[in-house]
Amino acid sequence: MTENDFKAKSYTNFPESGKVGWKAPSNIALVKYWGKKANQIPANPSISFTLDACATTTQVSFSRKEIDSDDFSFELLFEGKPKEDFKPKIQTFLERIEPYLPFLKKYHFAIETSNSFPHSSGIASSASGMSALALCFLSIEHKIQHMEADFFTKKASFLARLGSGSACRSIEGDLVQWGKYEGIEGSSDLYGVRCPYEVHPIFKNYHDTILLVHKGQKQVSSTVGHNLMHNHPYAEKRFEQAHTNLDKLKPILAEGNLEAFMEVVESEALTLHAMMMTSMPYFILMMPDTLEIINKLWAFRRATKTPICFTLDAGANVHVLYPDSVKEKAIQFIQDELVAHCENGHYICDQIGTGAKKFFEE
Ligand code: PMV
Repeated sequence: MTENDFKAKSYTNFPESGKVGWKAPSNIALVKYWGKKANQIPANPSISFTLDACATTTQVSFSRKEIDSDDFSFELLFEGKPKEDFKPKIQTFLERIEPYLPFLKKYHFAIETSNSFPHSSGIASSASGMSALALCFLSIEHKIQHMEADFFTKKASFLARLGSGSACRSIEGDLVQWGKYEGIEGSSDLYGVRCPYEVHPIFKNYHDTILLVHKGQKQVSSTVGHNLMHNHPYAEKRFEQAHTNLDKLKPILAEGNLEAFMEVVESEALTLHAMMMTSMPYFILMMPDTLEIINKLWAFRRATKTPICFTLDAGANVHVLYPDSVKEKAIQFIQDELVAHCENGHYICDQIGTGAKKFFEE
């Protein structure tokens, strides 16, 4: 499919008003997306676990403008209160998606949104936020013009990508791949697809306990971060490596080979940070507690042979990943040894989830 396939045919039938609501989850990448080309096209393919507990709930009420105008009209409530500083991001998002949703300037939108996780917890809310918003706008288009379920899912992912790249992996569960990659037929730079590999049951109920080492704003925004990959001395090798790691994951996921899984996932996390340390300008996004957690986790794994590993986003927080079979042991270890390294002892228990859900439509 190409961008043009997502352009709507001309509409005839506009509802006066209505309301739609979606809850969309966050996701955690196993093979990381880091570096992009124009129009939110990824420099390399990535794959993620869709999460469950970390989610954004968004409702959009829409009403026909009395007088047509050439601008977007929207108001925004975040957790029940007006939130002016989110508006520019939404304005940019609307500008990017308008070629594909040409009804947007005909309506006034009242957007109400909230996160299940604390704001400024250092957890990226753009993946869940942009996917929930994309789904709401697309549901409005669906009221104007019918579309098939498979096309709806692809277009939702396509639109979410224009808000935040990784958001395109937050529409479906439970393992989603995004970016053109030879190993998956139908993979695309334009949207995420459910991983069509055979996946061993051990991965079906995987847990992600997110240790909030630093709850403040991200030191480096992802836009700045992705740009650091332009003219980066190791960029080409890194982009190749993402393909190789996806190749490696295929049998690992099928066989449930946890040893090999942990190796790929941890290497990906450290590579992401290595890219930031070796860019110009350079950044260290880990904090002393991040390293303490990693070292304690490795020592625990060596001593107890528990299949528990970590991954990182572009920040200091640590995602601790483990299968359901060792849940009790892992949580005990996290509480006994790792929580002390979290800001105010805060952490979030999450697990692999099934994707976004519509909860309201009228
Ligand atoms: O979606 P963005 O532009 O915020 O980029 C996210 C990039 C990482 O979270 C660091 C990696 C990934 O693949 O999710």
